[in-house]
Amino acid sequence: MDTSERSERVRALLAHNRVDAGGSRYTRPAAGTYPHQWLWDSCFHARIHFWLGDRAMAHDELRALFRAQEMDGPDAGRLPHMTLHAEGASEQYARDVALWGSPRASSITQPPIVADAVLEVGDPSLWRELWSPLCAYHDWWLRRRDPRGEKLVVCHHVWETGADATPRADGAFQRLLATGRTPRALDKGTVNPTARKRPELLAARFLMLEDLQAIDDGERSGALSPADADRRRLALYGHVAIEMQAFLYSGLDAMARIGDALGEAATATRYRSEAAAIARAVDDRLWDDERGFYLDRWGEPARTIEVMTYAPFVALHAGELVPIERARRLALHLEDPDAFATRWPIPTVARRDPAFDADEYWRGSTWLNVNWFAVRGLAACARRSGDARFRDRARVIAARSLELVDAAGFREYYRSDGDHPAGFGPDDFSWSGLSLDLARLLETELA
Ligand code: GLC
Repeated sequence: MDTSERSERVRALLAHNRVDAGGSRYTRPAAGTYPHQWLWDSCFHARIHFWLGDRAMAHDELRALFRAQEMDGPDAGRLPHMTLHAEGASEQYARDVALWGSPRASSITQPPIVADAVLEVGDPSLWRELWSPLCAYHDWWLRRRDPRGEKLVVCHHVWETGADATPRADGAFQRLLATGRTPRALDKGTVNPTARKRPELLAARFLMLEDLQAIDDGERSGALSPADADRRRLALYGHVAIEMQAFLYSGLDAMARIGDALGEAATATRYRSEAAAIARAVDDRLWDDERGFYLDRWGEPARTIEVMTYAPFVALHAGELVPIERARRLALHLEDPDAFATRWPIPTVARRDPAFDADEYWRGSTWLNVNWFAVRGLAACARRSGDARFRDRARVIAARSLELVDAAGFREYYRSDGDHPAGFGPDDFSWSGLSLDLARLLETELA
C-alpha cells in the first residue's frame, strides 16, 4: 500500500470514529464496543490527527480529556481512564454508569502519556491553556501514587496499565478468584464479546474493581485512614509496572520542556528532578541484571513478577530512563525465538512463558501501540548509540506490523505467531492508525 492510500484509509477510520459530545469532540476507539473516550487512546488519536494535518482536531481531542478531571478531594488532579458518553450506546452506557457509580467518568486512570502528546502536537497557546490542568495531573501522580515514597508509582487496577489481562496481574487475579466470589458486574452482563478473552480473568478484573471501590469509599467516608487505605490498595494489586515509570518519566520531561517554553522555570526544574529520581529508582529496583530485563513488582510486601512481557520494550521510548547498555541487553530478547522473535513481533508475553498464547488478549498477541512505542524507542537508541542493530530490530517490528494491518485491517490486536496473519476485536480500531507513522519511519529514518 502506498503512503497516500494508507493516509486516506486512516483518515476515513478516524472520521468514522469521531464523536461530538456536547461541545467537545474526540475519537472513540471503535464503534459499538468502545463508545467512550479513553485516556491513552486519545493521546494516540491526537497524534494521528496531527500527522494527517488536522491540528484543530488533534487539539480538541486532548482538550476533551480534561472535561472530567477530578477537581476536589484527595484525588484532585486525576484524569479518568474513561470519560463516559451516552449517545447511541444507551444499554452499555447504563452498565458503565452502574459499574463506575458515576454518569461522567471512571475512578481510575491510564498511562500518563498526555503531556508528551500535548508537547508534540501542541503550540504555545495550547500549552498555556492546558498547563495548570496538566500540572494538577502530574502532581496527582506524584502525590497519590508513590505510597512507599520510593519514587516508583503504583497502579491500583490492571486497567490502569491499559493491558487488561496481562499475566503480570496473575498473582492478584488468582487470589481474587480463590475467594469464589462472583462479581456484581457480570450479573449485569458487562462483557465485551469481540476479542479472545478468558471469562475467569474478566471476572477477576471486576472483583479487583469492587474491592478497590470499597477501599476508596472507606477512605472517602473516613472509615479508613489514608495510610490504611494505601496499605489495602497495595495488598490488592499495588502493581509497580516498568512502562508506567517510563510514561511518567517522559511525561515529566515533556512538562519540563513545556514549562521552559512558557517561562515556568521553577516548575520545570521540579519536574526534571522528579524524573531523574524515577530513573534512579527504576535502575536500582527494577533492573534484573541476571536476565538483562526489567521486572515488575506487585502486592504488599512487594514481590517480583517473573513473567517477561512487552513492557520493557515500551520503556525504551523514554529516552535516558534506559541506559544504552541496558537497552542493548533488552534488545537481545527481541532476537530470541523462544522469547520475543515471533513471526509478527512484539508478542505481549515471551513465547517460552506458560501464559503465552499468540491470539489471546494481552497474553501473547501483538498490539500496534506497543509496537509504535518500541519502534520509536529503538530508533532513538540507534541515534543515541550509533549502533545499527537497534535500527534493524525497529525495521523488522515496523515492517511486520504493516504486514498485519495490510492483511487483517485496523484491528484491536493481532496474532503474534503462526502461519497466517490474523486480527481480533473490532475491525475499526482507531489506534491501529499508528501504522501511518510506522510506514513513515520505514521510508525515512529506518530505510
Ligand atoms: C481495552 C484495552 C485498553 C484500551 C481500551 C479502549 O480495554 O485493553 O488498553 O484503552 O480497550 O480501547
